[in-house]
Amino acid sequence: MKKVTKAAALVLAMAMMMSMLVACGNDAGAATGGTLTFGTNAEFPPFEFVASNGVIDQYDGIDMAIAKQIAEENGMTAAIENMEFDSLLIALSNGQIDAVIAGMTVTEERLEAVDFSTPYYTATQVMIVKEDSDIASAADMADKKICVIQGYTGETCVQEMGYSYEAFKKGTEAVLELVNGKCDVVVIDSATAQKYVGDNEGLKIVEDASAFESEEYAIAVKKGNTELLDKINKAIEAKLADGTISELSAKYIDESGE
Ligand code: ARG
Repeated sequence: MKKVTKAAALVLAMAMMMSMLVACGNDAGAATGGTLTFGTNAEFPPFEFVASNGVIDQYDGIDMAIAKQIAEENGMTAAIENMEFDSLLIALSNGQIDAVIAGMTVTEERLEAVDFSTPYYTATQVMIVKEDSDIASAADMADKKICVIQGYTGETCVQEMGYSYEAFKKGTEAVLELVNGKCDVVVIDSATAQKYVGDNEGLKIVEDASAFESEEYAIAVKKGNTELLDKINKAIEAKLADGTISELSAKYIDESGE
């Protein structure tokens, strides 16, 4: 009897050691289970913002819901690293994060540094102005005080138009400047603009489809990380096909009071 117990204990101990080894192996890479760490800049409603009760910790929004689902469908847990928008691609190259989900537009310049997933959302730059503004097109910004957000595609657009501007770190800061009459127009992505106009009295959106091209949001991974990119693409493509992404968009855009 005693011998049997000893043998059983030995087998048990060995099994435990082996499972520990497996557990350690899992730590080696996000693509093999464990945590999938997404970098974002949670200053971009309805895609990512800080809420009292978000889908991933305090982080909520369309992107956060997508990130959570991608991780879970691959047997992983999603984690968020919130940082400045400008730091995201550096953090990705450093290996500090596994992927970037931040309403990030695919651009030629960014494609030189990272790989992008299948796009999941189409947007455009728009102008937020005071309700009584005479700005009706992008050309009308020529002699106006323009606010942009640092590192966003809106900044590049205004730069390419050759206008001078002031850059802020956060959309809310630029919008406050507009509300306070210290600038005439904020150039920012359409859905985020809608959210800010809903949150502040006396503002409106001016579109100019001939001046602002459409943009596509996608998830970025480190260049060459095809293993993770394949998983992300599978998940995104399924969510586009079955309507999950449009449902999420509708849900979070409605919540913003529009
Ligand atoms: N779509 C714009 C860009 O790619 C703005 C994205 C801002 N995203 C954010 N999470 N702050 O530059």
